[in-house]
Amino acid sequence: MSNTNLSGKFAIVTGGGQGLGAAMVKRFIAEQAAGVAILDYNLEKAQAVAEEIGGNIIAIACDVSKEEQVKAAIDQVLAAFGRIDILVNNAGIIRDAMFHKMSDDQWNQVVNVNLNGLYYCCKYVVPLMRAQCYGKIINVSSTSANGNAGQCNYSATKAAVEGFTKTLAKESARKNITVNALAPAHIDTEMQRSVPADILERSIKSNPSQRLGSPDELAAVAFFLASDDSSYVNGVVIPVCGCHPT
Ligand SMILES: NC(=O)c1ccc[n+]([C@@H]2O[C@H](COP(=O)([O-])OP(=O)(O)OC[C@H]3O[C@@H](n4cnc5c(N)ncnc54)[C@H](O)[C@@H]3O)[C@@H](O)[C@H]2O)c1
Repeated sequence: MSNTNLSGKFAIVTGGGQGLGAAMVKRFIAEQAAGVAILDYNLEKAQAVAEEIGGNIIAIACDVSKEEQVKAAIDQVLAAFGRIDILVNNAGIIRDAMFHKMSDDQWNQVVNVNLNGLYYCCKYVVPLMRAQCYGKIINVSSTSANGNAGQCNYSATKAAVEGFTKTLAKESARKNITVNALAPAHIDTEMQRSVPADILERSIKSNPSQRLGSPDELAAVAFFLASDDSSYVNGVVIPVCGCHPT
């Protein structure tokens, strides 16, 4: 019989300083996680989340697009927790522009955070999970992986995240490691609120549910993927977007 909660489990959530990441941290602690480390480049926000939620949460300043910072942060988590059972690669940014107007900076920033950041975190955590023959990796993609005007940079990284997820899952399954992705859309966070109001209104109208989702609704699915109830679910991308646009 497996534990359906996260008792005894130690987790990392990147970008846990607000939005979806903060909601996942809150849910993991509510599900009795032994400890959660927030890796966020905004330390103040990460500390505020840790303080508000309480429990065994450590806030670590880390820009996931910088390999040396990720390596140091993982060392810090290991020193505090001794092991890492769950890794949520959630940190992500948008720098939207039509492709013909997109600057190199807009392209590179998004690739460096959304894709290279995930690569660095996995680079230092996957060997630990393989050695302990246990791990739950949850990558945060987006329905924009299927294409969204103004987001060539973002869509490219999220499509890559999905390919990475499916491949790492195949390589890791025999080591009792699951690697899955969530593909949210229209969830009420600061990232969503940074979208121009008319575009946001149009996209809500185009969603059959006619509303934004809440971060807690995303965190509920993340909890399932982090728990042992999902032990035979591997290499999938789960849309969390109100109603899947088939
Ligand atoms: N909100 C949505 O509707 C939505 C839809 C699709 C995908 N997503 C994805 O969900 C994830 C979280 O989005 P959100 O809406 O909570 O965003 P958000 O902007 O509200 O929060 C992102 C968090 O990541 C942190 N962060 C950004 N860059 C970082 C870096 N280089 N290193 C470490 N931390 C960094 C920020 O400080 C912040 O705390 C992202 O990967 C995003 O692409 C969100």
